[in-house]
Amino acid sequence: MTTYRLTSVLHPMRRVYIFTIVTRLFHWINALSIVILAITGYIIGNPPAILAAHEAYDGYWFGTVRYIHFVTAYIFLFNFIIRIYWMFKGNRFENWRNFLPTSKAFIQEMWDVIKIDVLLVKNKHVVSLGHNSLAGVSYLMLFILMAAQITTGFGLYAAMSDSFIAGLFTWVVPLFGTDALVRVWHHIFMWGFIVFTMVHIYLVFYHDYVEGRGEVSSMFGGWKFVENECIDEKECTDFNR
Ligand code: HEM
Ligand code: HEM
Repeated sequence: MTTYRLTSVLHPMRRVYIFTIVTRLFHWINALSIVILAITGYIIGNPPAILAAHEAYDGYWFGTVRYIHFVTAYIFLFNFIIRIYWMFKGNRFENWRNFLPTSKAFIQEMWDVIKIDVLLVKNKHVVSLGHNSLAGVSYLMLFILMAAQITTGFGLYAAMSDSFIAGLFTWVVPLFGTDALVRVWHHIFMWGFIVFTMVHIYLVFYHDYVEGRGEVSSMFGGWKFVENECIDEKECTDFNR
């Protein structure tokens, strides 16, 4: 039997284009790179003792793991640079303002989302079109973590590579003191990505189910859905972003 949500029948939904192809490509390339970097990085940090029939000098599997880590690191870096550029060129939902708590309305929405979705003490929906403010701040923290991982990663790589980009990071190891310390921080930051990913995936599916506005699909097709009369109403916080 087909069932319809009552709200959808009474208030037809309008679809709004939120994420352009640039942001969507950034998102999935970024997510995939992080998975590859975390797996290869974990192996680099904890190399398994693999028994093999051939002599040790005949095997190159660990070199391949490192090679994959470094190639993916470059993809991760350029993808990040494109997203930063797009924060100034993209549409209003992709703009840098969505990530910085600079206005009163932004901070108010953060509190509302905390009360509604985290503390469960308020029973009302925040209907923001792009990212809600709390999500925006969580992405800001992820971007800072990405910059830290790139800095420590290329700082370590500077000792192994003559590339121009690696050469820009020769100051990192002297700043930390020893390369062992840079590796420790690089390793700790990996756990930051793992924790973010677990919370993030839970939350996007939670919002998708509770709000029924195509949250997850917006990162594939770009569209979210919003009740028609909601678009201009004050309670549908959009902050003219
Ligand atoms: C999400 C991003 C990344 C994650 C999760 C990650 C993770 C890791 C981990 C866990 C290690 C092993 C550290 C240890 O315990 O010794 C490692 C090593 C390393 N990573 Fe990354 N990494 C990332 C990005 C990068 C980037 C952007 C670069 C830049 C080139 C990079 C370069 C390196 C280097 C040079 C090593 C040491 C390799 C060696 O000594 O053989 N990583 N990474
Ligand atoms: C099954 C996996 C994933 C799904 C279904 C998913 C889905 C989504 C969705 C629907 C949004 C938009 C949410 C909103 O409007 O606030 C989003 C945003 C975002 N996600 Fe994911 N995500 C996944 C994995 C990841 C991973 C692994 C990372 C990185 C660790 C990540 C990082 C981000 C970032 C940075 C944004 C903000 C995008 C921007 O504005 O540039 N996601 N994700």
